[in-house]
Amino acid sequence: MPETVRVAELPGRVGSTVTVRAWTMTTRSSGKIAFVTLRDGTGYLQAVLSKKDVPDAAWDAFGRLTQETSVEVTGVVRADARAPGGVELQASDLKILGPSVDFPITPKEHGTAFLFEHRHLWLRSRRQVAIARVRHEVSQAIRDFFYERDFTLVDTPILTGSIGEAAGHLFATQYFDLGTAYLAQTGQLYVEAAAAALGKVYCFGPTFRAEKSKTRRHLTEFWMVEPEVAWNDSDANMRLQEEFVSYIVARCLQRRKPELVELERDTKPLERVQPPFPRISYSAAVEKLKSLGSDMEWGRDLGGDEETLLAQQFDRPVLVHDYPKQVKAFYMKENPADPRTVLNNDMLAPEGYGEIIGGSQREDDYDKLLSRIRAEGLPEDAYGWYLDLRKYGTFVHAGFGLGVERTVSWICGIPHVREAIAFPRTLYKLWP
Ligand code: 4AD
Ligand code: MG
Repeated sequence: MPETVRVAELPGRVGSTVTVRAWTMTTRSSGKIAFVTLRDGTGYLQAVLSKKDVPDAAWDAFGRLTQETSVEVTGVVRADARAPGGVELQASDLKILGPSVDFPITPKEHGTAFLFEHRHLWLRSRRQVAIARVRHEVSQAIRDFFYERDFTLVDTPILTGSIGEAAGHLFATQYFDLGTAYLAQTGQLYVEAAAAALGKVYCFGPTFRAEKSKTRRHLTEFWMVEPEVAWNDSDANMRLQEEFVSYIVARCLQRRKPELVELERDTKPLERVQPPFPRISYSAAVEKLKSLGSDMEWGRDLGGDEETLLAQQFDRPVLVHDYPKQVKAFYMKENPADPRTVLNNDMLAPEGYGEIIGGSQREDDYDKLLSRIRAEGLPEDAYGWYLDLRKYGTFVHAGFGLGVERTVSWICGIPHVREAIAFPRTLYKLWP
């Protein structure tokens, strides 16, 4: 019995007889010789069958192959410089494992709605496989970055009693006799507690926003990584962000070149992603936007168009800092130099991808935090534990959240975040 191997292992098996299990992409034949291109998730392969060298049953099976039929092919691995991976399989046998009748996604063009209805099958396409691999690299780079720097991973709850970001954008559910539970919008409040225990921590998991946004940047369920560092101020927080984002991009350039080629991503803008990143205060950004013809007014949050216009002025991600207090979350530290503003920053990706990071130094003054909680009309008793962090050894600390899907769509150069996650959840999508 020949050994069963994955397509990716074939270049090391030239000359030996092996069995491959895979799915059919395309077939063609010229009477006596037949070709089938296969994919098994690890790579792409062409198998060649000569009518005279294979059993009749195998030749018949070839005739019945349709797109996505699963097969088992046995043959000799041959070097072929023109083939993907540098090898092809000279088949001695072929068996059908699972037929595939009328696979809905054909090589012709399909509309986006149709493709998302068939997301479970669309995932098999070359582009979607490449995106999944880039996402996987981004996730692994995130973990490695923090592991190498001695951060401790702290898993924070999904079911929560306190609101993390803004009331109004919450998914709620009845929680036994304890009232309403909310799906976490952020793990931040919990990593702040953990930072006082462990110094440098991060959480990495799914977060939920019941935003009725239909933009290409919004999902209702997305993955966020949130580091939190005791004794970091806003400046140190921004330095950590530029080092972090540069690391992630460099890793993808280093290890995911074939995927970026498959996605036809121009990698030149990505190669420029090196620290230091330009920094601009919110107030200076408003002036700059006005000078570029925008009707932006001080006090408004930057919208998608303003973010794009601003980011276009720079050749790498830009850090916009010290926003007006009224457009940002309650936990951000008041700026002592200008109390109308807070010590926060967003990071805007280049090429129109907009905000990929939101971060801030946290309000560490008990009274100021309490008055912000009251001013926002948040339920005070739900924040008793959070206020405790300012009561028992308060500490300067800062952190940020990076959205995985926005980062992946930027690195891949794909216009919409919904392709950056296997099964997106949006206003209109709960299935598949
Ligand atoms: O700016 P946000 O809301 O910040 C926080 O949640 C903080 N608690 C983070 C922290 O300081 N620990 O969200 C952070 C990032 C955004 O910059 C964006 O990349 C992503 O999360 N994000 C979304 N991604 C997809 N769909 C949405 N609806 C998103 N909302 C935020
Ligand atoms: Mg934000």
